[in-house]
Amino acid sequence: MNSSLADTIFQAKVRYESIITNPYYYKMLTIEEAVNQRHSIRSYIADAIPQPTVDDLRSLIAQCNSSANLNIQLVLDEPKAFGSFLFTYGMFKGVRNYLVLAGPQSSDLDYRLGYYGAQVMLRAKQLGLDSCWVGATYHKVTNAFTLRPGDKVRSVIALGYGNGKPVNHRVRKPEEVADFHPDTPQWFRQGVLYALKAPTAINQQKFHFELRDNRVYQSTGWGSYTQMDLGIVRYFFEIGAGNKPILWNRSL
Ligand SMILES: Cc1cc2nc3c(=O)[nH]c(=O)nc-3n(C[C@H](O)[C@H](O)[C@H](O)COP(=O)(O)O)c2cc1C
Repeated sequence: MNSSLADTIFQAKVRYESIITNPYYYKMLTIEEAVNQRHSIRSYIADAIPQPTVDDLRSLIAQCNSSANLNIQLVLDEPKAFGSFLFTYGMFKGVRNYLVLAGPQSSDLDYRLGYYGAQVMLRAKQLGLDSCWVGATYHKVTNAFTLRPGDKVRSVIALGYGNGKPVNHRVRKPEEVADFHPDTPQWFRQGVLYALKAPTAINQQKFHFELRDNRVYQSTGWGSYTQMDLGIVRYFFEIGAGNKPILWNRSL
């Protein structure tokens, strides 16, 4: 064997071993595990998010931003957004990292931020990070992120290694949030079950799904963040439905 081939094999072996012994790779949850294990967590330990995780999240964020013309950003080691006594006392502890959900003002901005924010939040969970979506109780630290002219910040998602217990809350029954018939396909039923595992503002779960002529129709009642909730549950529904290509009543 010539020396350059031996070198190549040796380097491949080192790379392989570094991958299989690296917790970053082998501990990653499947997307279904991420859905099932996620709960809102409001208290965090001080550990920094490791660089491979940061790189992974930033790469997904870049994809989401470019496909949906959004301006989602990951802010690291910034304690002031959740440091104000007025905004957060007693609710959030130790938040130093968060996603800023921003984009150009439009009638469907909340819906799209919900859908793409859910993707990043679940990817973070796959990589071991806890989270809590936050609509109101945070402070906008404007020098921590960059807005383009016309961009609006609609929410943030706290991220980090959780130190708190999830709060158990009421989950609506599938038949309260969707119409079922004897011939309703399994992928639709599974989609609804997964949608019920998604976070919604004040746990309102005001969304509704219906299947008509092979198209999934989403609707919602009135209230704060109901459109963002609708985007979030759409992404969870898609995971539950598996590889089924879905026709939706609205575009992203
Ligand atoms: C759009 C949105 C806004 C939210 N805003 C807040 C908030 O301001 N403060 C908070 O503590 N939790 C907030 N939450 C988290 C919800 O309270 C939480 O998702 C819900 O109670 C369900 O709990 P779970 O996420 O553990 O399943 C928000 C969630 C969503 C989706």
